[in-house]
Amino acid sequence: MLELEPPRHSRLRGLVLRAFTGRKVAAMAPEISATCHRLIDAFPDHPFDFLDTFARPLPVHVIATLLGVPTDRCDDLLRWSNAMVAMYQSGRSYETELAANQATVDFTAFLDSYITYRRAHPREDLLSDLIAAEEAGEKLTGEELISTCILLLNAGHEATVHTLGNAIKTLLPLTFRDVTPALVEEVLRYDPPLHIFTRHAYKDIDCFGLEIKKGQEVACVLAAANRDPAFAENPNRFDPTRKLSQHQSFGSGLHFCVGAPLARLEISIGLQILFDRCPNLQISEAPRYADTYHFHGLTQLMVR
Ligand code: HEM
Repeated sequence: MLELEPPRHSRLRGLVLRAFTGRKVAAMAPEISATCHRLIDAFPDHPFDFLDTFARPLPVHVIATLLGVPTDRCDDLLRWSNAMVAMYQSGRSYETELAANQATVDFTAFLDSYITYRRAHPREDLLSDLIAAEEAGEKLTGEELISTCILLLNAGHEATVHTLGNAIKTLLPLTFRDVTPALVEEVLRYDPPLHIFTRHAYKDIDCFGLEIKKGQEVACVLAAANRDPAFAENPNRFDPTRKLSQHQSFGSGLHFCVGAPLARLEISIGLQILFDRCPNLQISEAPRYADTYHFHGLTQLMVR
């Protein structure tokens, strides 16, 4: 879906959006809260990596539950997903490519056999809805069903992990603890987990005096757009009281993030429960950003 053009893109996206309704996303709130509490209950009393202990397990558990994939496979999902998204690095090695291939083979084999099982045992979840759409006729091929599930599982957690990490890194040294919708949007604007998406020009265009030729690839730097002073006053200041009309962190246009409402819900519930339950949470080691561009996130975030 991420790489397709209409009409194939519209068909796949339409099917996912039909299954991914606002009602189903909102109904995830109790599961998100319960998962946050379970993870916080297990926080150690010595310094620990916030990414491994909270930011990573929360979104992968949520997207697996929503899709209807067994949550005891979350470690495998994380491993496969990490190996696959490593393909988006510049200067990737042959080993990275082999590992991504192997992860794709393993992920596909798992989903193939799991979908066969679920076909015989449908439930109330997104996977059963997508299987029903596939069985209803020409709408979704078996291969598209598997690649859509992989996209949802991978896209459904990778970016949220780093948004939670970046948010905690920014917020802990400050005093804001009231997680309003405006704070969630400011977190997303200020330090987005995905910096670059590309587009190809369908025709020659003039973009503010810059000539872009038909077929040329253009990198849209979402993070730079978010910090454009023409659009946000004092853009380098984190300010959850600013009246933000929009930001580019979820992209825009045809490929606008399908999971934006789910991501917003996870960030808002996750941060509020953390602040309420752990009022003394502090950063214990200076955090470092990973030297990658496919995800803008931290290597680790040591807290106590
Ligand atoms: C803070 C978390 C998230 C951020 C910042 C984010 C960001 C983005 C961005 C920038 C795109 C657009 C790509 C483009 O323009 O080419 C995108 C697409 C997408 N996102 Fe997210 N995302 C997040 C969470 C999620 C979640 C939770 C899901 C769950 C299903 C999800 C599913 C998708 C899918 C399926 C697409 C492809 C849509 C298409 O190609 O039509 N994302 N996301």
